[in-house]
Amino acid sequence: MSQLAIEGGSRTVPEGIEKSWPIITQADKDAVMRVLDRGQIWGPDAPEKTALEQEWAAYVGTKHCLVTNSGTSALHACVAGIGVEPGDEVIIPAFTFWATAQAVVCQNAIPVFVDIDPITYNIDPKKIEEKITARTKAIIVVHVHGLPCDMDEINAIARKHGLKVLEDAAHAHGAYYKGRKPGNLGDMGMFSLNATKNLSGGEGGLVTTSNPEFYEGARLMCMFGEKQVPKGNIRPYDAFIMGNNYRPVEMTCAFTRSQLTRLEAYNAQRIANSELLTRELSQLPGVITPHVPADRNHVYHIYRVKLDPAAAGYPDIDREDFRWAVQHALFAEGVPAMEWHSFPVPGQKIFQNKNAYGKGCPWSCQFASQDIRYDANDYPETQKMFAASFVLYTIHAANGLELMQHYVKAFHKVYDQLDRVVTNPAYYQRVRASV
Ligand SMILES: Cc1ncc(COP(=O)(O)O)c(C=O)c1O
Repeated sequence: MSQLAIEGGSRTVPEGIEKSWPIITQADKDAVMRVLDRGQIWGPDAPEKTALEQEWAAYVGTKHCLVTNSGTSALHACVAGIGVEPGDEVIIPAFTFWATAQAVVCQNAIPVFVDIDPITYNIDPKKIEEKITARTKAIIVVHVHGLPCDMDEINAIARKHGLKVLEDAAHAHGAYYKGRKPGNLGDMGMFSLNATKNLSGGEGGLVTTSNPEFYEGARLMCMFGEKQVPKGNIRPYDAFIMGNNYRPVEMTCAFTRSQLTRLEAYNAQRIANSELLTRELSQLPGVITPHVPADRNHVYHIYRVKLDPAAAGYPDIDREDFRWAVQHALFAEGVPAMEWHSFPVPGQKIFQNKNAYGKGCPWSCQFASQDIRYDANDYPETQKMFAASFVLYTIHAANGLELMQHYVKAFHKVYDQLDRVVTNPAYYQRVRASV
């Protein structure tokens, strides 16, 4: 049996074979140069922006699309677009990137968190209704890691209570749910174009909707609160609402359009990489690979591996200790086993202190309920998932099956010597930055 890397043996995954994301081709470079040669590098109706909006709306199946300068600004534009106002409550999952909640706070509204389904890691529809109050305006779903949420159940709850549904599809470009794509499964949707994402523009965002009123509301937010004047008219410089400048630059739009021509192929490679891991790793006792319900696909922005110590034969070892021990051993073997957040969003300081802007705003606002409380322990399924799992990012399409086979070999090496790994407290070493 070969010596574990964590005990001084040589690592399983050869050094330096992982490639970085995104893949940048000559066509991408030509697209950016096309903009520079044209000389028009910005503008609300600039040609690359307009073309990307048309292409993405057609791809997703909505009437409208708006390109923004980040996913976070796209989210805020959506929240504003559906008319969320100060003190309104917006339901969101406890497991997401905090930008989902930030967009709500940016509108002086109040995020209300819901725990996740332990199998899909997406918001648990069964736990939504108990959080609805007279102030609730919308539900933001997050298609976490690239797996669409249970949209039929969520849309039915929203219809029953007269709520809007926003999709945070930052991870889910090109997935599908019952034959339709994220971004077209609720009232409005948004995507991130941050460099790590399945569709990359470096930075940027995409808003989608088929509702002209929501589209205009989002556009107002992206354009200083000013109404867009038709081409050829003189701008009146007259803001209607508190807006921002959320406009993208043309180079990003051209680069993203070029990447978009390869999105389907890139997603197919992510899926092939991830399915190989699922096939192989699910044979190891206590290794739980991503679950994909039959009515949707998963585009694997991130691949999550959960560990069950009892099923692996160690019922007495704490699930977090067990996970840390295995994660460290794999890491030493060259498997980049990482984290994507480590505790529920309501545990973050901004929610613990209920203070975003100073003076307790927006929670101290006269329109907000004074009964809002945030406690990370109210989200046990999210906590259990964090304790028991880690993620892989390098399943992206710049890498292929050969690298995945190396990862499988590393898992086998660690699992063949699991007793040495998980019964040595030195390998638990919890690393928690506490500020
Ligand atoms: C779920 C989710 N929503 C929103 C965002 C915000 O996107 P951006 O980083 O483009 O602002 C992210 C960021 O990565 C995210 O992971």
